[in-house]
Amino acid sequence: MKKIIAIDGTFASGKGTLAKKLAASFGYAYLDTGKLYRAVGLRALKSKTNLDDAKKLAKLATDITPAELDDLALKSGPVGAAASKVAVHTEVRAALFEFQRNFAANPGRQYKGSILDGRDIGTVICPDADVKLYVDAQPSVRAERRYKELLSYGEDMSLEKVTADLIERDTRDQTRAEAPLTPAENAHLLDTTNLSIDAAFMQAKTLVETILSQT
Ligand code: C5P
Repeated sequence: MKKIIAIDGTFASGKGTLAKKLAASFGYAYLDTGKLYRAVGLRALKSKTNLDDAKKLAKLATDITPAELDDLALKSGPVGAAASKVAVHTEVRAALFEFQRNFAANPGRQYKGSILDGRDIGTVICPDADVKLYVDAQPSVRAERRYKELLSYGEDMSLEKVTADLIERDTRDQTRAEAPLTPAENAHLLDTTNLSIDAAFMQAKTLVETILSQT
């Protein structure tokens, strides 16, 4: 049986980097599910669709293609903010459900399993995942990381604005009615506040190895 690893966590907690490294190390297929919501956000911005119009947004979400997920435009701040706004709608989440479930269940012959990272993987998309991690870090540390990331893309935004956006995004993700960001009951918590990428990876790797050896 192929395994499924669910990695959820807050914005800029390091979960994406961690998930990518774990996938490479274990030979698993990897899906950054945030990109699906970002792709819907980008389509909405391009087509000037109202971010409150759940029906129209759900339509935009029905035929997102894997190729679209490679678009570098998905990484921008405005697209991330739009993603978090479209993600509150039940209809949008439902439209993206199949894509994620399919990926988790069918990672491809060459892979031993799949790793998905997002906000609701352990709670909603893959509640039976073999391993569930919940990654978090103090807001000021996450804001600093995101600030540096945006600078590397050439986006000019003050640290204050990045911090305010991050808190707004956390609040929206954690308080929405549908699939709010919260650790799954059986998730293992990883706080990366004081950890380098390598240290976080080593901790997560050991944890995943231990859990998988017991399944
Ligand atoms: O992780 P990332 O910042 O790319 O996600 C963008 C937004 O998409 C998040 O703020 C969240 O609102 C939404 N999202 C979600 N569920 C997921 C992944 C992302 O609601 N599984």
